Amino acid sequence: MSILPVPHTAVIVVAAGSGTRLDAGAPKAFVGIDGHSILRHALDGVFAAAPMQVVVVAPQGYEGDAQTELQAAAGDRVDLGRVVTGGTTRQESVAAGLAALWGDVTTVLVHDAARALTPPAVIDAVAAAVVGDAGVVPSLPVVDTLKRVADGLVTGAVDRAELAAAQTPQGFPRALLEAAYETAVAHGAEYTDDAALFAAAGHPVRLVPGSERSFKITTPADLERARLLVSPPAVPATPPSPTVVAGAPRVGIGTDVHAFGGEGNLWLAGLEWPGEPALSGHSDGDAVAHAVVDALLGAAGLGDIGEHFGTAHPEYAGAHADVFLSRTGELLAEAGFAVGNVSVQFQGNRPRFSGRRAEAEAALSAALGGAPVSVTATTTDGLGFPGRGEGIAVTAVALVIPRQDRGLSAPAE
Ligand code: CTP
Ligand code: MG
Repeated sequence: MSILPVPHTAVIVVAAGSGTRLDAGAPKAFVGIDGHSILRHALDGVFAAAPMQVVVVAPQGYEGDAQTELQAAAGDRVDLGRVVTGGTTRQESVAAGLAALWGDVTTVLVHDAARALTPPAVIDAVAAAVVGDAGVVPSLPVVDTLKRVADGLVTGAVDRAELAAAQTPQGFPRALLEAAYETAVAHGAEYTDDAALFAAAGHPVRLVPGSERSFKITTPADLERARLLVSPPAVPATPPSPTVVAGAPRVGIGTDVHAFGGEGNLWLAGLEWPGEPALSGHSDGDAVAHAVVDALLGAAGLGDIGEHFGTAHPEYAGAHADVFLSRTGELLAEAGFAVGNVSVQFQGNRPRFSGRRAEAEAALSAALGGAPVSVTATTTDGLGFPGRGEGIAVTAVALVIPRQDRGLSAPAE
């Protein structure tokens, strides 16, 4: 058993109501918010405040349950707590609590268990504000526009600047509150809260700031609000998708076909081919370069060559592979991709490619900042338009890699 100095402050936690409006099948104080009851949460707040005597006022027949909650919340301060039986009205329940105060107590707080989430700081602030003969009420400004009404009609305006919403715990000099209670009992007067009863005895009541968390759990909607505050719904984690791997490399494919019939020398695979028939087309007709651009843009989800380099971009008319490819590399880099490698093949009878393969691969690779580019060529055994020498067909495949330093986890689309 721990030895604690006898405190001069006490809190009466009134928990003896039936909870008619909550209608949860048990006295309100014992209704669960999460794994813990309303009373347990209220007492957790009380015991997190500065040490004080704690009197729990329980519904008749629930004293044992209240004692269990008290012990759970009190920890090594259990000697500060006790349970008494409440009355049929809140005022009677408070009176029962007052009767249980220790002799050394000079300041008493009265607190609704139903204000289960009241911050301990508010409890301490109220206790500290009780000086002289004044009572203390934590309050919030009224935010709604208020109307005076009668029979379903608005009869007048109410200036909300003159109003405040009162909460608990309310604090009082013990002797004055006890005397005020005796007077109320003598007159059979019922008040809506302790501050009203105290003020009726002629004492001043001061305001201190309350808290949004001190709202009273009255209706099922209030209980839901408390539940959300106590255990906010977990933000659903993005379910791991078996089909999407963050940071996975991406492939793209590009094809291009150009007919022979252009002017000047052939440009293909980034090289000029003197004496070879030129391909026709916007720009230089380099179908190898164009297929590579489409494969890269496709892999990165950045659209296609027509979008970035088509006739709407006259600046690229007559441009060669190095211009297209280096600009494509920039577009990918801006979107957070590095080029893994590119493999491109053209089908056609001309030009004879093998003698300049290394030169072509080096030119294309250089235009892509050094990424490996391999070029292969094949004939079509005389079949189709490439076989008839009408033009060439090119297919390219590109691999691009999201750059981790960009934190890119989703594909750019
Ligand atoms: N209270 C009490 N004794 C009573 C009535 C109320 O101790 N006879 C307490 C409640 O337990 C509650 C606080 O006073 O902590 C505020 O009352 P209220 O919110 O009205 O609770 P209930 O009376 O239980 O609810 P209802 O009015 O819906 O029945
Ligand atoms: Mg009530």
